[in-house]
Amino acid sequence: MKIGVLTGGGDCPGLNPVIRAITRKALQEGDQILGIRHGWKGLLEKDTIALDQRSVSGILHRGGTILGTSRTNPYKTEGGSEKVKKNYKELSLDALIAIGGEDTLGVATKLHKEGLKVVGVPKTIDNDLGATDFTFGFDTAVNIVMECIDRLHTTAESHDRVIVVEVMGRHAGWIACYAGIAGGGDYILIPEIPIDVEKVCDSIKSRHAIGKNFSIVVVAEGANFKEEDLITQEKKLDEFGHVRLGGIGDKLGKLIEKETGYETRVTVLGHIQRGGSPTAFDRVLGTRFGVKAYELVKSAKFGKMACLRGNELIAVPLEEATKKIKTLDLKLYDIAKIFFG
Ligand code: F6P
Repeated sequence: MKIGVLTGGGDCPGLNPVIRAITRKALQEGDQILGIRHGWKGLLEKDTIALDQRSVSGILHRGGTILGTSRTNPYKTEGGSEKVKKNYKELSLDALIAIGGEDTLGVATKLHKEGLKVVGVPKTIDNDLGATDFTFGFDTAVNIVMECIDRLHTTAESHDRVIVVEVMGRHAGWIACYAGIAGGGDYILIPEIPIDVEKVCDSIKSRHAIGKNFSIVVVAEGANFKEEDLITQEKKLDEFGHVRLGGIGDKLGKLIEKETGYETRVTVLGHIQRGGSPTAFDRVLGTRFGVKAYELVKSAKFGKMACLRGNELIAVPLEEATKKIKTLDLKLYDIAKIFFG
């Protein structure tokens, strides 16, 4: 078989282990892998690269994606989806593995309904895709944020400051909550629950009352005050209708300083959370996802996506990935709350 592989949407540590696993397994079985560059853009432009043992050698530990990625939506270009289907044929593909988040998999779902043989692999550092318990990249992001919180502790403590740390998480507080618990954040704010500044400040003041003259507040970029619009860097939308988030940390930091009188600083971690080497967990998970996706292709389970349930990799319909955002399990937030203030 000749199988195409593409990575779409935001990059994430663990993508290369998936690509490597698909390629190595396919070569072992005598199949060919064609890498498609920059997500759906590569299929629109027939920008491809043949993958062999040599091209996937030495990539297991590397972050990002050797195939490149983009947020191109073929359904937003005049005749885009027709072109994708035509190019799929002209490239003599027998199947396509799309690795991506809700947007990339949303396109994969539509193309499958229109006749392409597509299989999906879920990807997002935000861990907010329905159907799968975890996605690779999330564990790496959590560990990076945890290390940053550890570092912020020592400087906050030395200066008797409040430090607000803004982390990724557009719709869900998974990174904020996991890293906040692991790093000992003194307050954690998530998109699922509106921010109550008074409560945050009371908790910081109560720490001061027992001699803790510094605090770390972790806030997800998608968290917000009641009935306010999301805080964004610009209003422009990408091809999937998303705005660029960012700025809640700054806004919150100013309010905390005003309300408590304690000197406050803000750190925005941004893309540091998506860069660099994947953790062992994400390397193993990515490898398992890659092998599973290949097996789905070989057993003609098209229109399906590999996903993790408990410790098993299973197949679910592609639609399930995009049906519902998986918001934070609030039982975990209840545990985090024990340590506020
Ligand atoms: O969806 C993953 C994510 O990391 C979000 O948390 C964030 O809002 C977005 O990607 C930012 O992506 P970019 O800056 O690459 O457009």
